[in-house]
Amino acid sequence: MSSGSVLPYFISGVIVKGFGRGSRSLGIPTANISQDVVDSLSQDFKIGVYYGWAALEGQIYKMVMSIGWNPFYKNEKKSMEVHMLHKFDNDLYGKYLKIAVMGFIRPERDFASLADLIKEINNDVEIANTSLNTSEMIGYKSCEFLNS
Ligand SMILES: Cc1cc2nc3c(=O)[nH]c(=O)nc-3n(C[C@H](O)[C@H](O)[C@H](O)COP(=O)(O)O)c2cc1C
Repeated sequence: MSSGSVLPYFISGVIVKGFGRGSRSLGIPTANISQDVVDSLSQDFKIGVYYGWAALEGQIYKMVMSIGWNPFYKNEKKSMEVHMLHKFDNDLYGKYLKIAVMGFIRPERDFASLADLIKEINNDVEIANTSLNTSEMIGYKSCEFLNS
């Protein structure tokens, strides 16, 4: 399946407060990117779940990201939420995040239960973790966008 636009796709923005469900009920903290950035994404950029690299304060992390309306929660606004494969001790609000979107995983969808949503996100994390280990993907870690 393709994203509908050419990858990698580079996006940056400030991390803002989401609904706080990510850490609280899912155990999967997400960095929500500011609404102006979400609204300015190309219409060709298909909603769904992606993997890639995230740069935060000079460090580069593997990440999974969801762009869309979170059908499980029926959000009214499109959001972009990045989960980095790293445990942070503090919240990240107000920090500047740069991401390189490398590959499409699946469309967003609804789930019968919260447990099913969590299971699927954990599977996305596995896919991201493996897919980012190729030499081609690792090569992008040193790209100028993420490192400048
Ligand atoms: C990798 C990933 C995949 C996701 N997939 C879905 C999905 O298929 N359907 C959905 O409703 N929400 C999905 N979500 C969004 C979660 O529901 C969302 O992160 C959660 O509601 C926390 O939102 P909050 O930060 O605004 O509180 C996904 C999130 C991530 C990080």
